[in-house]
Amino acid sequence: MSASSSAMIKLQDVTKSYLDQEVLKSINLEVGRAETKVIMGGSGAGKSTIIKLILGLEKPDSGRIFIEGEDITPLSEQELMRVRKKIGMVFQEGALFDSLTVGENVAFKLREESVYDEDETQVVVRRLLGFVGLENAIDKMPSELSGGMRRRVGIARALVGNPKIMLYDEPTAGLDPMTSRTISELVIKLRDLEGVSSIFVTHDLSTAFTLASQFAVVKNGSEVQFLGEDGKLCLINTRFVMIYDGKILFEGTDEELKYFDHEYIKEFLA
Ligand SMILES: Nc1ncnc2c1ncn2[C@@H]1O[C@H](COP(=O)(O)OP(=O)(O)O)[C@@H](O)[C@H]1O
Ligand SMILES: [Mg+2]
Repeated sequence: MSASSSAMIKLQDVTKSYLDQEVLKSINLEVGRAETKVIMGGSGAGKSTIIKLILGLEKPDSGRIFIEGEDITPLSEQELMRVRKKIGMVFQEGALFDSLTVGENVAFKLREESVYDEDETQVVVRRLLGFVGLENAIDKMPSELSGGMRRRVGIARALVGNPKIMLYDEPTAGLDPMTSRTISELVIKLRDLEGVSSIFVTHDLSTAFTLASQFAVVKNGSEVQFLGEDGKLCLINTRFVMIYDGKILFEGTDEELKYFDHEYIKEFLA
């Protein structure tokens, strides 16, 4: 382990161009244990590129990327497969297999790795669907689900293997506020109850502010409650990062963002 191992994810001076377009210009970004970084920025700002770099699907032109202290920049495709197992990925469109049931979708990776027998697989699938509140949908086809339910199945599927890192790329895009709220609550539960570190890319300010202002606690042994910050305490392990012109224009709390004096940010928040 290197000295930089306290961060779960670390981008160090990362630069990335496509053809002659410089998308990311010397980005420095860290995500600590049980921390969520909300990445915002306009369309084409390079948000998805950051996700692809962390997954090793793209290589930086310069700079380094560390996952749990390990420099993944020089790794081979085979070594990257091992690193990717630590990471759960949630895409905008749940990305489910349409011809498989909800249960089969969640079981897919488990079966592929064939570490569990069929009974154990069922137990894991039911636990993960229970976590996203969809145990009863286990035998449904994706086409029978609402958009929000499909995203939640996508989250259940990303949780196979209990990843310590989750990457969400606009998981609430196109969802109504109530449904987006169910997605935010899952992200908050993973952060506060499971200690998962995450990057949450979004355009959706209301979801971003929910993540930054609510925390989850367990009451009476099992019931999960969501509580707001009480003003004095800043318990919530979520920071905002604004990407602009290939650089990090702002990084800080939700409150700091509201008072940050920059035209682009004022426009973004308007
Ligand atoms: N594989 C690629 N080849 C060429 N250009 C790309 C590729 N991927 C992304 N880009 C370009 O890089 C910029 C950033 O893309 P992206 O990271 O997807 O933005 P965002 O997710 O913030 O909308 C865009 O201008 C996009 O067109
Ligand atoms: Mg994108």
